[in-house]
Amino acid sequence: MARARVEYVCTECGGVAPKWQGRCSACGAWNTLAESVASDPRSSAGAGGQGDRRHALVEASELQALNAIAAEETPRFTSGIEEFDRVLGGGLVPGAVVLIGGDPGIGKSTLLLQSLASIAADSAALYVTGEESTAQVALRARRLGLGESAMPVLAETQLERIAAVLSQHKPRVAVIDSIQTLFTDALPSAPGSVAQVRECAAQLTRIAKRDNLTIILVGHVTKEGQLAGPRVLEHMVDCVLYFEGEAHSAFRLVRAFKNRFGAVNELGVFAMTDRGLRGVTNPSAMFLAQHDRRVPGSCVLVTQEGSRPLLVEIQALVDSAHAPNPRRLSVGLEANRLAMLLAVAHRHAGLVTFDQDVFVNAVGGVRIVEPAADLAVLFAIVSSLRNRPLGADCEGGLAVFGEIGLAGEIRPAPRGQERLREVSKLGFARVIVPRANTPKAGSRGAPEGLEILAVDRVDQALDLAFSR
Ligand code: TYD
Ligand code: MG
Repeated sequence: MARARVEYVCTECGGVAPKWQGRCSACGAWNTLAESVASDPRSSAGAGGQGDRRHALVEASELQALNAIAAEETPRFTSGIEEFDRVLGGGLVPGAVVLIGGDPGIGKSTLLLQSLASIAADSAALYVTGEESTAQVALRARRLGLGESAMPVLAETQLERIAAVLSQHKPRVAVIDSIQTLFTDALPSAPGSVAQVRECAAQLTRIAKRDNLTIILVGHVTKEGQLAGPRVLEHMVDCVLYFEGEAHSAFRLVRAFKNRFGAVNELGVFAMTDRGLRGVTNPSAMFLAQHDRRVPGSCVLVTQEGSRPLLVEIQALVDSAHAPNPRRLSVGLEANRLAMLLAVAHRHAGLVTFDQDVFVNAVGGVRIVEPAADLAVLFAIVSSLRNRPLGADCEGGLAVFGEIGLAGEIRPAPRGQERLREVSKLGFARVIVPRANTPKAGSRGAPEGLEILAVDRVDQALDLAFSR
């Protein structure tokens, strides 16, 4: 097969250069040029007279009025795993390309094998493995109790051959594990290089759209936490999911980062067992640490992940610093936000921490990005600093949510009612919330038996939490 012409494309701006150079001449970014297959000069519009002549020969595409386009709800089918369906926005969509990223060994292959074996029970599915041998896949399937499945498995890394198998067998769903192992003959570079990854993904996407086939790509994450092939894949596919979780904990979270067919930031919660991944139906109970909650430095946060509220324990340790630069460290929470919170608390509530090391942690390996975690983080910090447990007088336990603004105000969080319902469901007796999130008097929103304390300002919130 003839080698295609190679060009270099900037991963930042898309500028094209015929030769590799250290700096993109279009946008000036350094070290962003990546090898790529040059587009066919006959199909792209060239400059000048030749291009104009070509335009005259090409038939113009048809236009459609927006209101005349038939737009039905996208049909979906189940992946066979309820929690997986949830992150996908309700199931798999025909013709969609889904990318699943995550650290090695976190459970990508396990999840997809379980899902595909379930799909294979009543429709055509194909598992393409580029990393493991078919024997290894079979061994894993036996371990997962899927030894009886007749799902076809293909050990292949050459894109052209995979494409041939796809057009011959016409599966409904194909898993490619992983995109980094594939290579196309059209490119001289090694598998896993940006050019190969991008070209293989582009061709598979074309096949998916053409044959209305769902393709799930497994992608590896680089040391910097990005999908190899710096973000190029994320633009190409319809849905990007990431596996999260700590290696030493059994819990695995699958989060949607991009979804053309559903909501983002939807979260699927799994537990890794000796028989594969199991969906966790009550994740709130799981994220609350097992010990008695009334210890200093601990606060229960009501966070919202996609369509579902979640209770997570936030822990803080504040200890006198022995170096001129006190440490601020956060696990599962944003580090910059922590520094900001300490500044706001100093300015508006007189909380002095410049001579203290501050460590905060979201228990259970969950990553919390929403600002509604602010109040819980601050409470945990103050609780540790003063060595006083939160809600000591409150038998049923205390939970909080709310964002802290730079002016010291407590700002409301979205979906307050749902959060309150979750708190009440898990048996908490008291909750501290932004005033705008309190249910209106007499409305059905207030769960029975839950004491709701509204706060407006950060100093007032601290007084309320630690006065009793
Ligand atoms: P794997 O799915 O191979 O990860 P990835 O494809 O993301 O690299 O994950 C395998 C890990 O999960 C491995 O460390 C062993 C563990 N595991 C179990 O605990 N139980 C099981 O039933 C299986 C199949 C794997
Ligand atoms: Mg794997």
